[in-house]
Amino acid sequence: YRNLRVALLGAGSVGAQVARLLLEHADELAARSGAGLELVGIAVRDLDAERDVELPKELFTTDAEALILGADIVIELMGGLEPARSYILKALESGADVITANKALLATHGPELFELAEQVGAQLYYEAAVGGAIPIIRPLRDSLAGDRVDRILGIVNGTTNYILDSMHSTGASFEQALAVATELGYAEADPTADIEGYDAAQKAAILASLAFHTRVAVGDVHREGITSITAEQIAAATKAGYVIKLLAICERITDAAGDEGVSVRVHPALVPEDHPLAAVHGANNAVFLHSLAAGDLMFYGAGAGGVQTASAVLGDVVSAARRHVVGGPGVAESAHADLAVLPIEQVHTRY
Ligand code: HSE
Repeated sequence: YRNLRVALLGAGSVGAQVARLLLEHADELAARSGAGLELVGIAVRDLDAERDVELPKELFTTDAEALILGADIVIELMGGLEPARSYILKALESGADVITANKALLATHGPELFELAEQVGAQLYYEAAVGGAIPIIRPLRDSLAGDRVDRILGIVNGTTNYILDSMHSTGASFEQALAVATELGYAEADPTADIEGYDAAQKAAILASLAFHTRVAVGDVHREGITSITAEQIAAATKAGYVIKLLAICERITDAAGDEGVSVRVHPALVPEDHPLAAVHGANNAVFLHSLAAGDLMFYGAGAGGVQTASAVLGDVVSAARRHVVGGPGVAESAHADLAVLPIEQVHTRY
């Protein structure tokens, strides 16, 4: 086998599992990739921080830049905009392929990163950025590339789905359900990004960009969270045969003047109780989409979790390794940007 040098940035709940699986399944991953995958280092901020998994001490370093420069494949799992953005740019410039789960970064600086990757002939993979373990990026980018997706309805935030689901099943108030979600570790200490819909809006921007071959930034996404949903509204929805879900909705629409565009929005929505999305319980995620030829498709599974999300990251590692072995050109991500994002006022759809 040819040996590929893999650098990991970040050893949080996903990063630590990626490192463990790379080490434990090295032979299997090599056989599948056609290349040895040598984890050459893990860059972290604090060498002494507690990790979810015990990993060899000698792999850890605080010098991310040096690690990046010696790598064929760089996995960025540190999150946040900076220094993640600078590290990814540096990795691409040095000719490495990059794998990231950083939805905030992609939804904010995606075009800059994809353009550089294309310029230098490197590839940026991000299956783990939306829906955790659920394969959704490749299906949209590759499997459906010959079709025409016209609508995506996504439950892409596990925390809010858990909260709304438990409001439905127990009659609890939003505050009570949030407290339970926090106690069980679904919601972060600061749950703002989840409950106000920011996390879902980032994922909606990524899905819409891919599905409609255009550019949607997180700032283009109309966003409402779930903090004002009351137990009374939940009861009324149930009585009328609906469940309330926080949906990421991306669709092709035509505005009042007859111009085609896309609408991308995140808000609580009434889902008929017999719709497949109504059966998505707990902290699970699902993406239900409609395309011209394929019709309805649904992707379902764990939208978060360290080891689950590591599955998607490792799939990207194998893809990157295969590309190195074959020397293929990869997949161009440059978008046409020919569809404008239309304001929420243009939306008059029923589901
Ligand atoms: N906070 C996110 C969620 C984690 O609840 O779905 C995965 O992005």
